[in-house]
Amino acid sequence: MAQKIDGKEVSLFIKDRVKADTNELKTMTGIVPGLAVILVGSDSASQIYVRNKKQACEYCGFYSESYELPEDTTQEQLLELIDALNKSEKIDGILVQMPLPKHINPQTIIECILPEKDVDAFNFVNVGRIMLGEYNFLPCTPAGVMELLKYYKIDACGKECVVVGRSNIVGKPMAMLLLHENATVTVCHSKTSDLPAVTRRADILVSAVGKPGFITADMIKPGAVVIDVGINRMPNGKICGDVDFNEAEKIASFITPVPGGVGPMTIAMLMQNTLTSAKLKLKRRN
Ligand code: GUN
Repeated sequence: MAQKIDGKEVSLFIKDRVKADTNELKTMTGIVPGLAVILVGSDSASQIYVRNKKQACEYCGFYSESYELPEDTTQEQLLELIDALNKSEKIDGILVQMPLPKHINPQTIIECILPEKDVDAFNFVNVGRIMLGEYNFLPCTPAGVMELLKYYKIDACGKECVVVGRSNIVGKPMAMLLLHENATVTVCHSKTSDLPAVTRRADILVSAVGKPGFITADMIKPGAVVIDVGINRMPNGKICGDVDFNEAEKIASFITPVPGGVGPMTIAMLMQNTLTSAKLKLKRRN
């Protein structure tokens, strides 16, 4: 039986570290890290994420602002809000919850956020920095996966790592971070021929597809580490990942459950990025 990777435990470990560092920063400099979260529309999953982010800010001792804007908010209105937050001394991180309504161009919005406040690390400058390994922030979900590996002392160096999914938010940066750890990385996607043959090579298999039950036991090498980034809502309202967990845990050495695996890590890393941004602001001042 695989060992379950406990994302709640690791996320708490990270948030406690952020909380302690924030306290120290406040005492030494008076600076309080500030995060603004913007949600456009009333997607229920997104509302929950935004609420969780607000709670995490309170836990860590951050200042936070949250904006829940109506579905018919125009792109110009959203850009104006971001412009004001870019100028706000209190705000170190700006997060616009994705997906946005269809009439708003997400990349236009992302590029309007100052790179030093882009705590998602989605804009051109931050993506480019990650490619070169010269970054201040890492995108929260792949960074959270790397923290899980580190906590469980799973070394990616020299390993065969297979990432299934090539999104800009998860798959592509995930591949890059594993590469920075000197893994041999393969990225698979919907056009990959004989996907099971490729995934069976993986010592570390990361799935970020968004399809329940997509990764079956026959696609997993015995003893592999299985990281499930999928968050899928089933018709009965339950959340499940991409991996057939019950069968996979019989084969893998380590496995992340859904919920309670990668999910909590995303928010913990957002807190870490916001703290980093506040510290960099101080550095620029001095
Ligand atoms: N929607 C799903 N994941 C994310 C994320 O990491 N950041 C933002 N801004 N929106 C998301």
